Amino acid sequence: MKGFTDKDVTDQSGKCFVVTGANTGIGLGAAKVLAARGARVLLGCRDKAKAEEAMSLIRGQTPGADVAYLPLDLADLASVRTAAEIAAAEPRIDVLLNNAGVMFPPLSRTKQGFELQFGVNHLGPFALTALLLPKLGETAGSRVVVTSSLAHQRGNIEWDDLNAERSYSRAQRYSDSKLANMLHFFELDRRLRASGAAVTAIGCHPGVAATELMRYAGPFRVFTPLFGLLLNNADQGAWPALQAAVDPSTEPGGYYGPQSMGGMKGPSAQAVRTQAAQDREMAGRLWDVSVEMTGIDPGLAPA
Ligand SMILES: NC(=O)c1ccc[n+]([C@@H]2O[C@H](COP(=O)([O-])OP(=O)(O)OC[C@H]3O[C@@H](n4cnc5c(N)ncnc54)[C@H](OP(=O)(O)O)[C@@H]3O)[C@@H](O)[C@H]2O)c1
Repeated sequence: MKGFTDKDVTDQSGKCFVVTGANTGIGLGAAKVLAARGARVLLGCRDKAKAEEAMSLIRGQTPGADVAYLPLDLADLASVRTAAEIAAAEPRIDVLLNNAGVMFPPLSRTKQGFELQFGVNHLGPFALTALLLPKLGETAGSRVVVTSSLAHQRGNIEWDDLNAERSYSRAQRYSDSKLANMLHFFELDRRLRASGAAVTAIGCHPGVAATELMRYAGPFRVFTPLFGLLLNNADQGAWPALQAAVDPSTEPGGYYGPQSMGGMKGPSAQAVRTQAAQDREMAGRLWDVSVEMTGIDPGLAPA
């Protein structure tokens, strides 16, 4: 089957990648490959011990790998600000790979009081991206990657109840946050193009991959090993993220994902997205709401 895999990731020496949620799952899968190709990789993680374990694993596979821990809790905007400051002190950042995410938690809130899935999956990455844009802009060809999901197809932004104060369906809110991811990179790339910036924004989704994402899925967790057998393991699930991060043939504002079994499995290429995911009015409205909620403005005029 044609399509992008880890084998298509060329030498990345001299480049620096920030990978959020890199201690496990798809983020770790991507970080391993990038480090093996000579890149410097900052593992943006909320748990130092888990990040150190992941870095030892990477160094075990790639002796001398250039990896570093970047403390980052996407559920706390103060942590996001600090992480952005630390990352911006690097000589260069080529790619911000927004990968970290949470699925189906019981109703819970970020430090600033936002519903957790919207906060961690969208508002945190929106803020981190905004804060790192000036740094990314210093490097020609730099990219922001946003990780969505097939679940965006069922997404709907609850404009009147973004904080789930009136109702909370954990599955619906996950889909909503993944639609927000689609609208984020869609709008971001349009604004970047209009501003003439050197940065591009690209989306991806991993299909279905055996990771720790099902940790809140109760009895359905038993299906995780089956995903690995029948669909993708975590390393295969990283192929679309890797393509979005490094493939020179990707299009600005493009969306990449697995090509087999309705987008659930296999090598990566251009993926299908819904009309809602390309709705300019919704994307602009979400942008404004995200600026208001986070208090962080990427400073890009509407396209
Ligand atoms: N696996 C799939 O089938 C699938 C399908 C569609 C989309 N996705 C998307 O792929 C991305 C990666 O998921 P995965 O499958 O690799 O899941 P995973 O194995 O559960 O990994 C999620 C990562 O996100 C991190 N994370 C969670 N909350 C965080 C926070 N508040 N601050 C910083 N990091 C946080 C986790 O850190 P801890 O280990 O500390 O919790 C972990 O490193 C997510 O955006 C997910 O929505 C996955």
